[in-house]
Amino acid sequence: MLNQVLQAIDARRQGSLSDLKDFLRIPSVSTKPEHAPDLQRCAQWLAAKLRDAKLDAKVLPTGGHPVVLAKNEHRPGRPTVLFYGHYDVQPPEPLEKWVTPPFDPNVRKDENGYDAVYARGAVDDKGQVWAHVEAVTQWQQAGGVPVNLTMLIEREEEIGSDNLERFVRENKELLQADLAVISDTGQFARGKPAITYGLRGLVYCEVFITGPGHDLHSGMYGGAVPNPANVLCELLATLHDKDGRVNLPGFYDDVKPLTPEERADWAKLPFDEQAYLKSLNLTALSGEKGYTTLERAWGRPTCDINGLTSGYQGHGAKTIIPSAASAKVSMRLVPSQDPQKIVTIFERTLAERCPKNIKIEFARHGLASAVLVPREGKAMQLAAEAVQAGFGAPPTLIREGGSIPVVALIKTVLGIDTLLIGFGLADDRVHSPNEKFDLDALHSGTRTAAVLYEKLSQMTR
Ligand code: BES
Ligand code: ZN
Repeated sequence: MLNQVLQAIDARRQGSLSDLKDFLRIPSVSTKPEHAPDLQRCAQWLAAKLRDAKLDAKVLPTGGHPVVLAKNEHRPGRPTVLFYGHYDVQPPEPLEKWVTPPFDPNVRKDENGYDAVYARGAVDDKGQVWAHVEAVTQWQQAGGVPVNLTMLIEREEEIGSDNLERFVRENKELLQADLAVISDTGQFARGKPAITYGLRGLVYCEVFITGPGHDLHSGMYGGAVPNPANVLCELLATLHDKDGRVNLPGFYDDVKPLTPEERADWAKLPFDEQAYLKSLNLTALSGEKGYTTLERAWGRPTCDINGLTSGYQGHGAKTIIPSAASAKVSMRLVPSQDPQKIVTIFERTLAERCPKNIKIEFARHGLASAVLVPREGKAMQLAAEAVQAGFGAPPTLIREGGSIPVVALIKTVLGIDTLLIGFGLADDRVHSPNEKFDLDALHSGTRTAAVLYEKLSQMTR
């Protein structure tokens, strides 16, 4: 049966890509309220595809944010797998940097001559979700997915999955499974597929500084009044010390140090720093003193300004003291930092450091815990075999720096581990203009997913 499924996947490469392009045409940007109808349409589109595959698929509300939930016909005695993905995408801006429009998927060769599909959401996460939908569809046509499968595809991963928590808590029975599977991460490099065993967590804050009631002439008032832009810059400049460490009291208190074994494993990975620099158009890297690049990106907590706004942004000069300034700041967390504790430390410390003649306020945009999943065990072994079959190479075990809030939720609420099998490549420009998904990765990923569902049917319940 598996051979028949794999042959069907090979034969339908073009058809699968064409369906994925339809998926990518829907501008399902979760952070912008005006895209709510597109998110609705995207959910319906996906549910229809899953119904075509003879799954029982529903679009369910979660506090107004619809998730797609689909199940196959129950197979007694088989293990249950919960597949999770997201159909929302990041905002495409800046639009002028896109070679072809973000929601008009374009197939062309990348800088290294490999075929790829370019669109917002190509790899994060529509293309990877699609690999599973295609694999499941082919299994269904060949007689049925060999496990009990629940597919949960949500719409607000990119904004922190806030409403999903309640949905998972309230639908525990519906979601109960032996194992979860997510494809929303990456390969180590081309030809080096990976299984990810750790992700960083996230705290995303916004800081608002308000001073004078309106913009002021910088000649008339400059030097005599507090300048919100100056104050914001001074505050932000206190966030790191000279060794690149985050300068917030208590920030590192709960950090679980990297073990010598883990550091030794990572040091052996064929990470090419020169190629990394070149691909980023940089001449040198920076970060916390005493750690390698992989350690800094996968295993150490950070604090980064993501957006900065104040004063005149138009062409030429305008001499003003702006009345307000704001910044968006993210902190990536590692085990066992508590997002609640970190957000409190951040807000309290900045409020203390802020001059008292100016107002400081905060908003929170998403909290997620870091996760580690077991590196050994039956599921990991079966997943490794699936990757070997799908990509023709064994997986490298890696950690990654991004966050997927649901993984911690799945562990705490449903009590199960998640297999993170991602198909992305480092140069896919995730969250950036000209995001792409490699067509070989799409195909190998689809094959991996197909093999994975068969392998997982061997799991004991
Ligand atoms: N697919 C990413 C997560 C990711 C990125 C994992 C890179 C591994 C490597 C996911 O869609 C994402 O971007 N998540 C957000 C979550 C946040 C808003 C809570 C992130 O990491 O910024
Ligand atoms: Zn993302």
